[in-house]
Amino acid sequence: MWSLTSATLPLLLIFLLLVLMGASDPLQDTLLKCLSENSVLSPPISEITYFPSNPLFPSVLQSYIRNLRFNSTKTQKPLFIVTPIHVSHIQASIICCKKFDLELRIRSGGHDYDGLSYVSEVPFVIVDMFNLRSVEVNLEDESAWVESGATLGEVYYKIAEKSRVYGFPAGVCPTVGVGGHFSGGGYGNLMRKFGLSVDNVLDAIIVDANGRVLNRESMGENLFWAIRGGGGASFGIIVSWKIKLVPVSETVTVFRVEKTLEQGASEIVLQWQDVADKIHEDLFIRLVLMPVNKKGYKTIRAKFNALFLGNADQLFAIMNESFPKLGLERDQCIEMSWIDSILFWSNYPLGTKPDILLERIPKSEKFLKRKSDYVQQPISKEGFESIWKKMMELGKPGLTFNPYGGKMSEISETETPFPHRAGNMYKIQYSLSWKEEGEEVANRYLDLTRRLYDFMTPYVSNSPRSSYLNYRDVDIGTNGPGNAGYAEASVWGTKYFKGNFDRLVGIKTMVDPNNFFRYEQSIPSLAAWKGLMAE
Ligand SMILES: Cc1cc2nc3c(=O)[nH]c(=O)nc-3n(C[C@H](O)[C@H](O)[C@H](O)COP(=O)(O)OP(=O)(O)OC[C@H]3O[C@@H](n4cnc5c(N)ncnc54)[C@H](O)[C@@H]3O)c2cc1C
Ligand SMILES: *[C@@H]1O[C@H](CO)[C@@H](O)[C@H](O)[C@H]1NC(C)=O
Ligand SMILES: *[C@@H]1O[C@H](CO)[C@@H](O)[C@H](O)[C@H]1NC(C)=O
Repeated sequence: MWSLTSATLPLLLIFLLLVLMGASDPLQDTLLKCLSENSVLSPPISEITYFPSNPLFPSVLQSYIRNLRFNSTKTQKPLFIVTPIHVSHIQASIICCKKFDLELRIRSGGHDYDGLSYVSEVPFVIVDMFNLRSVEVNLEDESAWVESGATLGEVYYKIAEKSRVYGFPAGVCPTVGVGGHFSGGGYGNLMRKFGLSVDNVLDAIIVDANGRVLNRESMGENLFWAIRGGGGASFGIIVSWKIKLVPVSETVTVFRVEKTLEQGASEIVLQWQDVADKIHEDLFIRLVLMPVNKKGYKTIRAKFNALFLGNADQLFAIMNESFPKLGLERDQCIEMSWIDSILFWSNYPLGTKPDILLERIPKSEKFLKRKSDYVQQPISKEGFESIWKKMMELGKPGLTFNPYGGKMSEISETETPFPHRAGNMYKIQYSLSWKEEGEEVANRYLDLTRRLYDFMTPYVSNSPRSSYLNYRDVDIGTNGPGNAGYAEASVWGTKYFKGNFDRLVGIKTMVDPNNFFRYEQSIPSLAAWKGLMAE
């Protein structure tokens, strides 16, 4: 918060008069002075810092708002935005925000489902990483250095540019940013074979609460553990990541098959549930369930999207053996390169050139709400019947099932902060995306999504009912005013991190005792909390 002492007040009044007389904004000048003093002279930080008075401010702010719910005139705007092109710009932002007691939000790709990378209720600043997006692939040691502002599409493109037989396990949507994605876990269709993005991170560069630039060795194994799934924004600004490339076959095979209830979807879903987490780890079959209106009746559409790291004959044999109910036909299996499978999974038409992965802005923008759950016990036939009924009654929210098993079950729960390993059959994403403007419609759709989530209670994990951090959901709890309470934070914290929450709190207390890096779902510092209690 701005601290206004009686000594500074008269000064402020004079400044205000100067502003009214057309002079430049004194607070802006004070902040810019601090930023300049703490960063390199060239390129000067003033050139990459945007105050609301700058005509470019709205477009810089809006460029990476990926959820239209937070693009309204009512959404709180930052005091200014820094768009670093040099690490000292990041250091200066941290030092000056600390000095002026401003909250700092860190944005890489802006895909946070609840907008926490660029919205706050208190005066705040955004450090926007989009200029720092280099991807340096090194085939010799099968690694790459990737800056946080890169998108997944850029990472995939740059790997494929060098080789057809390497890939990286990360998300399906190419515009997602590396900074949030990696620090929150990061999964995609290579997860059953290679685990999460964070299971394949070798090193990282972070700027901490004191403005120090640290790598894996100098940050130590505790902090390096925390930022691989614990959410980077509680610990510092992560500049870049060293990732381990993974081998992919020269030819992969994909399919996309849809079935409605009338076409036997119920039986097929039951068989999917039996096999999806146990089938060959080279095969990943995502299931997307949507209520749809046909002429005169309602039904459920089950869409099966697959990636197989092998050729069509091998895939067809596995499907015939383990998942015959889908009735997959040989000509539904399409062979292609791994990079083309990325385009296929993003719903681009066959034959689209990979260059499209370099486009950083999605084709269309929507209003979004997402929630998540984990299924650990098979849902019965009757269970699914009642879920179909509920989905058709609510009419809008869809469910996406992502199978686990394979490599995911081989990694221990404590290896990274991401705890959802062995014992989880699949993850559910609740999704509702809409295009209609207005608060009334938004509230109605948020309510529908929450009602489906409530309805699912008996079928999903409990104590804790767990959630995926990268499917940010403020409904499961926030830190509340003051942002420091352990008790409040452990409600949402144990859902995202289970037993790893306490280790994250310990590390936070060590590396950022004063809770500089804070937001609605940041890991609390026990030191800051005790300090607050003592006041
Ligand atoms: C269309 C869409 C598709 C998605 N698909 C997938 C998927 O297939 N798999 C999957 O796992 N997830 C998926 N997600 C979720 C996605 O992984 C998360 O939203 C992720 O956090 C986004 O990262 P970002 O950098 O784009 O987001 P941002 O909104 O920029 O950041 C998200 C969070 O990370 C913090 N953060 C960002 N950059 C840094 C940094 N450099 N240092 C420290 N903290 C930082 C932010 O402050 C914020 O708390 C999807 C999301 C969307 C909107
Ligand atoms: C966000 O809002 C601004 C104006 O408030 C508007 O011009 C812009 O088109 C909006 N963005 C999208 C993607 O709709
Ligand atoms: C499919 O499975 C059946 C029996 O399970 C077998 O007879 C048939 O040869 C298989 N087809 C292929 C193409 O593998």
